[in-house]
Amino acid sequence: VFDFNKVTVLFVLGGPGAGKGTQCANLVKDFDFCHLSAGDLLRAEQNRPGSTYGEMIRTYIKEGQVVPMEVTVKLLEDAMRASLNEKKTGQGWEDGKGRFLVDGFPRKMDQAIKFDEEICQSRMVLFFSTTEEEMTKRLLERGKTSGREDDNEESIRKRFRTYKEQTMPVIEYYNKTGKVAEVNASATTTEKISLTFSSQIDASASIDEVHEKATQ
Ligand code: AP5
Repeated sequence: VFDFNKVTVLFVLGGPGAGKGTQCANLVKDFDFCHLSAGDLLRAEQNRPGSTYGEMIRTYIKEGQVVPMEVTVKLLEDAMRASLNEKKTGQGWEDGKGRFLVDGFPRKMDQAIKFDEEICQSRMVLFFSTTEEEMTKRLLERGKTSGREDDNEESIRKRFRTYKEQTMPVIEYYNKTGKVAEVNASATTTEKISLTFSSQIDASASIDEVHEKATQ
């Protein structure tokens, strides 16, 4: 049994195509964080032979809807436990002390509350912000080769609606607690992107390192 109070969790939020996944991949190259993407976990479950939830997940993703909390939170919790178990076998993390960049979660208030109350409190929320026009352009470009069923104009429109109606209130909720660091994600190439935090929060040394790297 792990004590989730020992883990450090940073949530990474932002609109569809804001660059969350791209920049998380950059951050884990330099820091000992485990990057977990809610979307990737759901797609893996969707494609897992014999999954009870596969078809349901496919429909929600195509429609740009938030997959029900019970499924998403369970997949995330299982992935965190698996990572902590793996790290326990000698890759440097102290017993149970994981550090997670959780990307695309929580997307709706019920997930935020369940995670905060039953798993652990996030330390910080990185909010990737850029224009809808730029995000749409990136997703349509990726859709040409990604094979993602939700990278088409109709699904993208629905994803933005869900983001505005359900995820923005989550960002506002964390903003009131002073946990949100806004990242300007409007650069137009992945190589050139420079993360600039427009707000500072009180954070531990390990988070300071991420902060420093991200603002270079
Ligand atoms: P998810 O997979 O999380 O998709 P998303 O949030 O819509 O975001 P993306 O992964 O598409 O974009 P991103 O911000 O990570 O950008 P990326 O770096 O990939 O979720 C998909 C669906 O799963 C949801 O709609 C929902 O149905 C379900 N789901 C997910 N989480 C859930 C949850 N918590 N609860 C319930 N359901 C959930 O970049 C995008 C593209 O742009 C790439 O091609 C990249 O190369 C390019 N790019 C990135 N940055 C730049 C840049 N600066 N300049 C130019 N191109 C760039």
